[in-house]
Amino acid sequence: MLAAKAMGYDSCPMIGFDPVQVAETINLPSDHVIGFMVTVDKAAQPAWPKGGQLALSEVVVQDRFA
Ligand SMILES: Cc1cc2nc3c(=O)[nH]c(=O)nc-3n(C[C@H](O)[C@H](O)[C@H](O)COP(=O)(O)O)c2cc1C
Repeated sequence: MLAAKAMGYDSCPMIGFDPVQVAETINLPSDHVIGFMVTVDKAAQPAWPKGGQLALSEVVVQDRFA
């Protein structure tokens, strides 16, 4: 996605698809898996404003699960 931006394109990551169906459609070799897809093109409109970054103390957990 950074490479796309550096080339003047925009992108969106996607996980909302059927990986088995996509693999069949593109004849994905059996020793490959699809983690996610990235759309790349010129943006039709600017991205929505972002709400900002949460404080790291709210989203980072170290050395424990809860
Ligand atoms: C890991 C990940 C997976 C995503 N999967 C989808 C997806 O399957 N479908 C979708 O419409 N948006 C998906 N999104 C969100 C889009 O990539 C994009 O961020 C969203 O449509 C908002 O666009 P905007 O940032 O230009 O407003 C995903 C985002 C992330 C980070």
